[in-house]
Amino acid sequence: MPLELVWPLAALVATASAATIGASINNNGVTELFGDSFGEPGVATEYDYVIIGGGTAGNTVAARLALDSANYSVAVIEAGSFYEILSGNKTQIPGHNFEEANPAYVGSSQLITQTLHAIKTEPIQGYNGRSIGYTTGMTFGGGTAANYAGYARSTKGAHDYWANVVQDSFWSWDNVYPFYKKSVNFSPPDFTKIDPSLNITFDENAYETSGGPLHVSYGNFQGPYGPPLAEALEGQGLENIQGFSSGKLIGYGTIAAAVDPQTATRSSSETSFLQAAAGGTGLKIYPNTLAKRIIFNGTRAAGVEVKGNSLTSDFSWTISARKEVILSAGVWRSPQVLMVSGVGPADTLAAHGIDVVSDLPAVGQNAWDHPFMAHIYKVNVETNSQIVSGNSEALLEAEEQYRDHQSGRLSSIGTGQAVSFEKYPDAIRSDILSQQAKDFLSGFPEDWPETNYLPLESSAVPTDLGPDDNYLLYGSTLFATSARGNMTIRSNNTADDPVINPNWLGEEADVEMAVASFTRLREIAFNSTLVESSWVPEANVTTREQIVDWIRQNAALTYHGGCTCRMGAANDTNAVVDTRGRVRGITGLRVVDASAFALLPPGYPMAVVYMFAEKMADAILRST
Ligand SMILES: Cc1cc2nc3c(=O)[nH]c(=O)nc-3n(C[C@H](O)[C@H](O)[C@H](O)COP(=O)(O)OP(=O)(O)OC[C@H]3O[C@@H](n4cnc5c(N)ncnc54)[C@H](O)[C@@H]3O)c2cc1C
Ligand SMILES: *[C@@H]1O[C@H](CO)[C@@H](O)[C@H](O)[C@H]1NC(C)=O
Ligand SMILES: *[C@@H]1O[C@H](CO)[C@@H](O)[C@H](O)[C@H]1NC(C)=O
Ligand SMILES: *[C@@H]1O[C@H](CO)[C@@H](O)[C@H](O)[C@H]1NC(C)=O
Ligand SMILES: *[C@@H]1O[C@H](CO)[C@@H](O)[C@H](O)[C@H]1NC(C)=O
Ligand SMILES: *[C@@H]1O[C@H](CO)[C@@H](O)[C@H](O)[C@H]1NC(C)=O
Ligand SMILES: *[C@@H]1O[C@H](CO)[C@@H](O)[C@H](O)[C@H]1NC(C)=O
Ligand SMILES: *[C@@H]1O[C@H](CO)[C@@H](O)[C@H](O)[C@H]1NC(C)=O
Ligand SMILES: *[C@@H]1O[C@H](CO)[C@@H](O)[C@H](O)[C@H]1NC(C)=O
Ligand SMILES: *[C@@H]1O[C@H](CO)[C@@H](O)[C@H](O)[C@H]1NC(C)=O
Repeated sequence: MPLELVWPLAALVATASAATIGASINNNGVTELFGDSFGEPGVATEYDYVIIGGGTAGNTVAARLALDSANYSVAVIEAGSFYEILSGNKTQIPGHNFEEANPAYVGSSQLITQTLHAIKTEPIQGYNGRSIGYTTGMTFGGGTAANYAGYARSTKGAHDYWANVVQDSFWSWDNVYPFYKKSVNFSPPDFTKIDPSLNITFDENAYETSGGPLHVSYGNFQGPYGPPLAEALEGQGLENIQGFSSGKLIGYGTIAAAVDPQTATRSSSETSFLQAAAGGTGLKIYPNTLAKRIIFNGTRAAGVEVKGNSLTSDFSWTISARKEVILSAGVWRSPQVLMVSGVGPADTLAAHGIDVVSDLPAVGQNAWDHPFMAHIYKVNVETNSQIVSGNSEALLEAEEQYRDHQSGRLSSIGTGQAVSFEKYPDAIRSDILSQQAKDFLSGFPEDWPETNYLPLESSAVPTDLGPDDNYLLYGSTLFATSARGNMTIRSNNTADDPVINPNWLGEEADVEMAVASFTRLREIAFNSTLVESSWVPEANVTTREQIVDWIRQNAALTYHGGCTCRMGAANDTNAVVDTRGRVRGITGLRVVDASAFALLPPGYPMAVVYMFAEKMADAILRST
């Protein structure tokens, strides 16, 4: 689907009075305004820094640069608009995220809202040739406007491994941990709203009072599924750990969420960072503005050619950069913008008639992502099934609690307690994994979990759901796969979707890991007092062959992609940027987003992206 289709509000945003364009909506309606922080469409302007993409990393870097005492001028160019305007309260209310963000296995295209743009993948061989919609947030906030908002950090060992791969201690755990803390304003669980009988522990020292502006909390609701599932995990030998934010993941515990507990709304990179920098700074934002290409003077990035869109016409102009262009267009679009601008594999560029500025074969390669499998169990405690199935009584009650007390099911992302991470246990390893798979896995650090089991109070339920039926999605994710994907361009036009090939389960070892993870998750589920029966996979999926068939036909995605413009040491020919994000062969151009990760660390990437952007902003400001 070409991008133009989702821009009908462009003219509105460009011309409406600035005072009415806000983004943060609480009980009093629109309260925080961007006011004079809009750039003027169609007018060539020069800034110190020009940022392509107002997503997770882009808004974070923009805010840190704009808030610096040097008062730099900073432009943020964003293809989309404001999710709060485009999708009403759905995107903001944490409990609606399952409808909003996951057309892939909720299964209905009408649930896709305008702010979510799904790129259709190439046929995935490991998934029986299926093509899947890869949702991306095309709005200020980017992925943080579209995602499940689970907040967890990666492990000490994973970050030290990263530092070793790129030969630079800049990325070691000790050097990134302070930047994980820097972005977060943490609130402990509020037991006046959350059931106080639930045992929710967290890692107090992982946060600091000076942190912010991103809100991290536990929502204002946690479901009753937690204790029985925690008991099953204990029974299977997993140990409780105090939260997932101080460098450990292996074990089980309660995951936090990017939710502002005061308003019980989504805390995105827009409501947090972008809002913090708007007003009284040199920040200007350009909504509904597509970066067409980076303009070079020789090999120096001098600015960006952009296209604005109104209801009646398109118009183009140039936004120039005195110091740097910072590319933060995300895993699939940062490499696209590089390629159309002349930075990428020379043969690909030649095939599209694009002049080569820097021949970098690794642009678009090394795509690393986490395959996902959703099991759905019938359970004996109340879950979100009624809300999902549209039971109006349950929905009304949840809405009332939400509106009157900012609590109840809609205030929660639908997960939290009894999230677990592990390496495949010995019995499963010896039963299921080949020597080759085991050898591959042995290359990862000791604290790098190979898999994750995530309970989610939501999503798919049978169509014949009864009023008292409760279902829980229990999903497994693979963190140590060997297949890497790639992307390339369809044309020289950034309005066309890139060609993306995540290549999930593209190696035999990864299929074995999927079987191991599937088997283990089922073992945990059926050893719990919670589970009554399995809706999917059906009980008749039992032999190894049936399990592999089921996985190939049903596996889905986590939208965790990274590494398509990966960083590397100076002698690493399979890299695009250096360890400060600077694009090889070019001056004045950095890539700062998940595409520039050296590797995809285990866990959930949102927290890593915030840390990464904080760290890069610091490097830019201090010229280190
Ligand atoms: C449905 C979903 C669920 C997820 N769930 C979780 C979760 O629970 N926990 C977690 O940790 N992670 C989760 N993730 C992953 C996480 O959100 C992403 O890893 C992260 O947001 C990526 O940040 P980024 O800065 O790299 O890119 P993005 O946030 O995607 O930012 C890219 C921005 O660039 C803009 N852009 C692109 N091209 C152009 C152009 N040519 N011109 C102008 N602008 C452009 C886009 O519109 C977008 O705003 C989820 C992601 C999705 C999509
Ligand atoms: C909560 O769980 C932790 C870890 O299992 C345990 O140490 C603690 O005693 C529990 N607290 C309560 C009140 O049950
Ligand atoms: C920063 O610069 C902007 C113009 O780019 C100006 O409006 C603002 O007042 C300045 N702020 C400070 C604190 O100097
Ligand atoms: C390109 O850069 C050179 C110096 O590096 C400068 O003299 C020249 O004016 C620049 N050209 C343009 C079009 O900006
Ligand atoms: C969200 O908006 C819809 C449509 O206006 C409304 O019906 C619903 O009650 C709102 N939900 C809440 C919790 O305010
Ligand atoms: C991407 O990888 C696939 C194999 O999974 C390969 O067939 C294809 O040629 C690659 N494409 C690019 C652009 O590298
Ligand atoms: C992009 O490609 C089209 C045809 O495919 C061509 O007409 C156009 O000139 C190209 N634009 C640029 C800037 O290279
Ligand atoms: C319960 O777990 C054990 C391993 O601890 C496993 O052997 C057994 O099959 C599991 N039971 C069910 C019903 O899955
Ligand atoms: C299992 O049963 C379902 C119907 O309940 C059927 O559609 C499916 O093909 C069966 N699978 C296997 C592996 O027999
Ligand atoms: C790069 O250099 C480092 C340290 O000198 C070395 O360990 C590594 O093997 C080299 N990598 C490549 C790809 O040559």
